[in-house]
Amino acid sequence: MEKLVKFFRVAIDQPGMLSERILITGESGTGKTATARKVGDALERIARNRGVDLIYAHINCRTTSGKFGLVQSIIRQAAPTLPLRGYGPIELLHALWDYLNEHNKFLILTLDEIDYYLRRTGEDIIYELTRLTDAITNVPQRINFMFIARNHSFMRDMSQETLSRFRPQERLEFPPYLEDQLVDILKERVKEAFRENAVSDEIITFIARNTAKYGNGDARYALLLLLSAGFAADRDEQSAILPEHVREAQEKTDPKIRDEDVTMLTDDEKLVLLALARHLKREKEAIFLPLEGVESSYRVVCEEYDVEPVGRVMLHALVKQLKAAGVITVNEKFEPGLNGVKAEVLEKFLVDLLKRRESDA
Ligand SMILES: Nc1ncnc2c1ncn2[C@@H]1O[C@H](COP(=O)(O)OP(=O)(O)OP(=O)(O)O)[C@@H](O)[C@H]1O
Ligand SMILES: [Mg+2]
Repeated sequence: MEKLVKFFRVAIDQPGMLSERILITGESGTGKTATARKVGDALERIARNRGVDLIYAHINCRTTSGKFGLVQSIIRQAAPTLPLRGYGPIELLHALWDYLNEHNKFLILTLDEIDYYLRRTGEDIIYELTRLTDAITNVPQRINFMFIARNHSFMRDMSQETLSRFRPQERLEFPPYLEDQLVDILKERVKEAFRENAVSDEIITFIARNTAKYGNGDARYALLLLLSAGFAADRDEQSAILPEHVREAQEKTDPKIRDEDVTMLTDDEKLVLLALARHLKREKEAIFLPLEGVESSYRVVCEEYDVEPVGRVMLHALVKQLKAAGVITVNEKFEPGLNGVKAEVLEKFLVDLLKRRESDA
């Protein structure tokens, strides 16, 4: 936010000096849209205090359709009193320019998901828009741009003419969120959206960790897990989210374990996994389990299936293999846990598999 505000300060301190353009890129859920909107609010506020009439318009190019749709949304936000009927898109852009001039207004125009628009609708309006600003010299520059896209690749498909107009002076890359940043984001949301004590710090960390690791640090993914886990807790009439609800949410959003991953395991591995699943189902508050606990559950399972249990060293090795197979996770203390699958679902699946093995024998 600071970088962006700084970049657009010229538009407030020396309004009309030049048409500022910045390109923001970053993967999904890295906060591009949220940040741009906040920056827009901040800039409008700063400008107001300085007596500059600055409008921030944020256009989501994915939800506008066609050239006319795009220009319409721009006008609706930037010049709501302009009549829309009876003009073509390019005429409307010139009307917008005149409007800004007549009213001595300045505009920061964010074209969000511009890559999507260019792919679907083509570049001519982008050309016209950016041309508006430098075709006319010796008059104040009234339109500044924030372009937002997932990555730079859309510029490769631009014609030379458009590219030379478009050219942003600055680029800003949004990296994926890290675990502790996701914790902050989730905490904010929990405060707003959940009853007190419904979501523990452990659960927040669990979601943040899984998002950093499996969700590309996508904040939207983290929030979706939180929401979906909350729904699951509601359905179970629990007053708080339990680890099983998070695992269920993850299983629904994008299953981390494929059936084949489990089917392919050796019998010893399956029995350890079954012990882990059962134990986690019982220990409702636990995200990870101490190995000793898993071992005792494992012995019970072995007894049930009439199998000689392996020793501690071998158990350690089996846990390692399960981790390598991607079916479990292990924390720093080498305590195993599950994610991406509900313990209850995994348990049923394993029991069926092991039953089939028995009837085959
Ligand atoms: N720093 C943050 N603080 C609080 N909430 C955030 C933050 N960053 C992102 N979010 C929230 O995460 C969600 C996704 O963020 P946002 O929409 O900004 O992502 P994006 O980078 O625009 O993704 P996309 O490329 O898919 O459009 C939104 O609900 C947003 O409010
Ligand atoms: Mg966005």
